[in-house]
Amino acid sequence: MPLRQLLALLLLLATTAARGQAAPPAGRERLPLDFDWRFAYGHPFDPKQDFGNGTGYFSYLAKTGYGDGAAAAGFDDRAWRQLDLPHDWAVEQPFSEKASFSHGFRAVGRAFPNASVGWYRKSFVVPAADLGRRISLEFDGVFRNSIVWVNGHYLGTEPSGYQSFQYDISDYLHYDGQPNVIVVRVDATLEEGWFYEGAGIYRHVWLTKTAPVHVAPNGTFVTTQLAGNAATLTVQATIANGSAQAQTFDVVQDVQDALGHTVASQPLAPVRLPGAGQQELTCRIPVANAQRWSLEHPTLYTLVTRVRQGGRVVDEYRTRFGMRTIRFDPNAGFFLNGEHVEITGTNNHQDHAGVGVAVPDALLEWRLRQLKSFGCNAYRTSHNPPAPELLDLCDRLGILVIDENREMSSTAHGLGELRRLILRDRNHPSVISWSIGNEEWAIEGNELGARIGATMQAYAKTLDSTRAITAAISGGLGQGISTVIDVVGYNYIGQSNTDAQHAKFPQQPGWGTEEGSTHATRGIYVRDEKQHYAAAYDQKPSPKFYSIEGGWQHYAARPYLAGMFIWTGFDYRGEPTPFGWPSVTSYFGMMDVCGFPKDNVWYLKSWWTTQPTLHLLPHWNWPGREGQPIDVWAYSNCDEVELFLNKRSLGRQPMPRNGHLAWQVPYAPGTLEAVGYRQGRRTLTDVVRTTGPAAAIRLLPSQPTLQAARQDVSVVTVQLTDQAGRPVPTANQPVTFSLIGPGRLIGVGNGDPTSLEPDRYVDTLRLVPIEKLREQATTPDLPAGPEVAPAYDDARWAPAFISRQYDSTQLAPTAKAYVTRGSFELPRTLGPGTQVTLFYQPIGREQTIYVNGRPLAQHLLAAQSPPHGFVLDAALLRPGRNSIVFVATPLLKNKPWDVPNTLPGTIQVRTPAPAWQRRTFNGLAQVLVQATQPAGTITLTATAPGLKASTLQIKSVASPLPAAQ
Ligand code: GAL
Repeated sequence: MPLRQLLALLLLLATTAARGQAAPPAGRERLPLDFDWRFAYGHPFDPKQDFGNGTGYFSYLAKTGYGDGAAAAGFDDRAWRQLDLPHDWAVEQPFSEKASFSHGFRAVGRAFPNASVGWYRKSFVVPAADLGRRISLEFDGVFRNSIVWVNGHYLGTEPSGYQSFQYDISDYLHYDGQPNVIVVRVDATLEEGWFYEGAGIYRHVWLTKTAPVHVAPNGTFVTTQLAGNAATLTVQATIANGSAQAQTFDVVQDVQDALGHTVASQPLAPVRLPGAGQQELTCRIPVANAQRWSLEHPTLYTLVTRVRQGGRVVDEYRTRFGMRTIRFDPNAGFFLNGEHVEITGTNNHQDHAGVGVAVPDALLEWRLRQLKSFGCNAYRTSHNPPAPELLDLCDRLGILVIDENREMSSTAHGLGELRRLILRDRNHPSVISWSIGNEEWAIEGNELGARIGATMQAYAKTLDSTRAITAAISGGLGQGISTVIDVVGYNYIGQSNTDAQHAKFPQQPGWGTEEGSTHATRGIYVRDEKQHYAAAYDQKPSPKFYSIEGGWQHYAARPYLAGMFIWTGFDYRGEPTPFGWPSVTSYFGMMDVCGFPKDNVWYLKSWWTTQPTLHLLPHWNWPGREGQPIDVWAYSNCDEVELFLNKRSLGRQPMPRNGHLAWQVPYAPGTLEAVGYRQGRRTLTDVVRTTGPAAAIRLLPSQPTLQAARQDVSVVTVQLTDQAGRPVPTANQPVTFSLIGPGRLIGVGNGDPTSLEPDRYVDTLRLVPIEKLREQATTPDLPAGPEVAPAYDDARWAPAFISRQYDSTQLAPTAKAYVTRGSFELPRTLGPGTQVTLFYQPIGREQTIYVNGRPLAQHLLAAQSPPHGFVLDAALLRPGRNSIVFVATPLLKNKPWDVPNTLPGTIQVRTPAPAWQRRTFNGLAQVLVQATQPAGTITLTATAPGLKASTLQIKSVASPLPAAQ
């Protein structure tokens, strides 16, 4: 190998190893398929508005390859919007009071059929050398009810909005350089949950290529028996023969440590599989000096499964796993590696400010780090299977997971859903329990629930006997599911007597799957019924439910309980209890939808971590309330806290364990200071100061450097400060953003539960049909007579194409040429910058096109339609109806059954989005900046009237991430 190539290879190996990734394995490729999709809205029940899909005489369910309308490979999608995945179209909709309360009032669902079905199309080329490989199209998750076609062939329907699924498409592909077309129709009309769920292909899509003999999808399972630092792995691997012929192969199982060193290796005896056969091979592998996976040191190993044929490695499959023991004790809680760990968890839904459920991996990681920063060591994926990347991150960051199934069911379908979840996720060391369901009110407290629960639990154990099964229960304890489940999940102590359950079932461990129901708005300290703001003091929301503090005190005091999961870590869209419209997000989060902490975070940090913590609330900007008492609280894990107002002591108090301190302080502007003492020694202080009005904008990026691969994200905090640079906790004003360089804005937010501002600013694309087509035969020399004028009366002309003599015996129509008149409807006003484009599809071999009587294209041959369409000059257009005329020689049929095109295309009206903008809410807003390509400097500018503007530069560096198709 020439020296330069060798150096380049070494550099690539070094950079990929540094990122914890291996070089592409032999024989197997996994390519991201996230980029350059086309998107348009369809319709749930009107086929005309659904691109004619399913209207053919033979439907796509009748004969393979009969995908019609937008599902057809040759469908013209040039007028559709271009976008990258992940994508959530729900977050791009306006709000409406008629929309779903539980989903945050976005205008999607039954009442909004025009925004409830989305179509995605993408084409890609497969090299000829791939012929003979098995190629799979893999979706991490699509919300919901997706139908997938490849090259017009129906592949299947996936109802779930949360499961990962895949199709082996090797037999359907073109290998001759012709593009392959994937089409996905997504129908988000129905809800699966009672929280914001988004809409669209909101997780990654992959293309996996393997040799015919390969490790089956999710085909490995590694379990560990540990004795001291000696481990014995039990490794199951299912090998599939994707060819029609019998194949002989052997397998070598290698174990690599976190640095990529092989620490154990196990060759297996040769196997012969019949064509299309598959077999599970099991072996045991001893590993010396095992490094355990723990919360502090989440050490990961990799099982490298190599399939060999004729001395050649034909497949290499990598399984990330960790070695640890887990155990629930009915009296002492949860143990990781034999050590007691108090579960200090949060529940979370999937959405984030700006992007909805289309959360890029970098933002997922940022969210998990935010949770970890206040001592959250566990994550419940309420109430559905998560993105697989979330579990990879929990493995890497050391976070425990309850991995939750969606709906409880013991039918073959229901057990199949559980099976898919477990097979996909069972190698993750972070996952410590499978939850079979949540608050199944119809069954949780009765015999039916006990039966369904017992069947699901027993079935889950046939797939994974190493993890306890749990269910989150809100009522009927002592009966139903709670009588059969391994680990009882209590949803809210206000409705569950944990002591009584423990007394009745002393052998059953338990934990708080949901607890704490405080409603709080970040930065608000006076409840405002009119504005729908809840005060951020941690208060019991109702006699039946508990505050965070009340909930934690219950769990902390009972060793038999393994810990608890707060409802919730982050605010989420939907469930805006207790207010409702026009509130659109929940009030339960420890952090708001942007991940800005509410004060409860410091309560948790005080008692969930050992880091010295001291936090004062509220802010100290109360003009007009001079002399009036203000409730001042301190959260801390110091022994005592003393409060000072403008240097005058207001008393020193001992901090109650798992509690907080409170003072009533007559307001005077200035400085409120808390001093924390440990063993009598002054250890910490926290200060809140009265600020001046907002004077400047500050931009604070979560990371100053990004990978230039259209994925990486910097979470930018927008903070308003006063003249002295102090953050102003009460500043609410709109800020406008602009970005230049190789990046893009993907979302904005501010955590205000009543904000109805857009989260995303995207151009509006309207697809306008060319309608009312009438025609008349004409002479072949394509004349431009009075019939091309807009006002020409064509009332007596025949409807286009219908009267032509396209019958099965005649290949050509009778006339030599036709004039076809039609029209399209433009909006009454075309705003500034609006662009109207005709994406023409030939209806003739040669044609001349007139718009409003003026020629647009002359003697255009069928093959000449421009890829980007004809941009129509604004001077040519008028509001409302516009005339379009085609003078064309007809298309000819090659075969009697050919169907010549009769749709002359689509008019696209593109209205540019206004500048990105967001109000700050209590001094803060958030902008999500994503690097695109190539590497370079991204410059974000924020301006607001009367404030000093701010500019932030983010460096985007060349990325070794795998190339996308
Ligand atoms: C629980 C439920 C959660 C959420 C919460 C709101 O009953 O499991 O999903 O709805 O109530 O208080």
